[in-house]
Amino acid sequence: DAVVDFYGGHQAGVTTAAQERLMFAALDVTTTDVTELQRLLGRWAAMAARMTRGEPVSSSPTKPEQPPFDTGEAMDLGPHSLTITVGFGPSLFDDRFGLADRRPAALAPFGTVPGDAVMRPELSDGDLCIQACADDPQVVFHAIRNLVRAARGTATLRWSQLGFGRASATGAGQSTPRNLFGFKDGTRNIHADDQAALDRWVWVDAQDSAGPATDWMTGGSYLVARKIRMEIESWDTDELSDQEKIFGRVKATGAPLTGGDEFTAVDYEATGSDGQPVIDVAAHIRLAGPENNGGVRLLRRGYNYTDGQDPATGKLAAGLFFIAFQRDPQAQFKVLQTRLGKSDLLNEYIAHIGGGLWACPPGLSAVGDWYGKALF
Ligand code: HEM
Repeated sequence: DAVVDFYGGHQAGVTTAAQERLMFAALDVTTTDVTELQRLLGRWAAMAARMTRGEPVSSSPTKPEQPPFDTGEAMDLGPHSLTITVGFGPSLFDDRFGLADRRPAALAPFGTVPGDAVMRPELSDGDLCIQACADDPQVVFHAIRNLVRAARGTATLRWSQLGFGRASATGAGQSTPRNLFGFKDGTRNIHADDQAALDRWVWVDAQDSAGPATDWMTGGSYLVARKIRMEIESWDTDELSDQEKIFGRVKATGAPLTGGDEFTAVDYEATGSDGQPVIDVAAHIRLAGPENNGGVRLLRRGYNYTDGQDPATGKLAAGLFFIAFQRDPQAQFKVLQTRLGKSDLLNEYIAHIGGGLWACPPGLSAVGDWYGKALF
């Protein structure tokens, strides 16, 4: 059964070929004792190392009079390429733990960005985040459940999200999956074999920090999550040609409307017989494309989600749990979302209802290393 290496220069779960399943959790730290927080981050490191190898969270045998150390539901499943990626939210750097001067400028809350009007606090932010991805739904649930359980007394679950059907290709040669609007998603993503793009747009570089207080993020990456509700019922009444105009791509093949196949370069200048641009001025790929944004790119790694039905309306409560990794969220996600939130044709059919920003520190070197060791 597939194992993704846990130890390394970067945390796994960023450039790892996107697995099929996600469980994402945001937690609030309840203790004000920094040693307890550090102990939790160490406990999580040890547990994550074991779970990603398909082992139970502890090697110690449970005595019959104790509750089992591991909750057990993943016992016979194997690792299924489990990755666990941990991040620190801006709120962790308030006065509680003496970390105020350790917050990198890149980790500033965005404030309200266009398109954020209906963001719900109960689905947003959190001192810590954990992204668990694997090819089995029970494996990701087990990972989050046990990490949250181990946090008892130190941190509590604030909100969480299950995702299915990866909505982005990140692996070299990985086929492009589809989002719930039925379009291929991830065609022009940053792929894992594009080292130059990863260095330029994904991994924090030593020269990005303002000094020794914030250089703990070198080798890390910033995670932006957005729970984006899709108005599926309205979308499903929209004609094919309009759906394709919104994205600027052919639904069946993923090719740009200016021709070719999925990976043919987009011709933003082309005009149709009516003299109008073939790729609409407010098409998603025109607004988001690096050619029109000073080159800015993101590594997208989102998942489709459904929470069942909206009890008030009977509509499907479903959408895209957007996740993006980047070197500087202020210069990348915030810039792109400001543009998209203002004018994207897609806005008629989507609403950002939750999410947050977290700093995912670099990878753990070996047994004994822990999340954020260089931060404290
Ligand atoms: C491209 C869907 C939200 C950034 C695309 C593509 C699709 C898509 C189908 C074209 C294929 C591709 O290159 O991957 C969606 C849906 C969204 C959504 C359904 C919401 C429900 C966002 C958000 C951002 C974003 C919030 C960032 C703020 C991008 C970027 C590209 C892209 C950077 C590549 C553009 C290019 O280089 O041509 N998206 N997207 N998307 N999207 Fe989105």
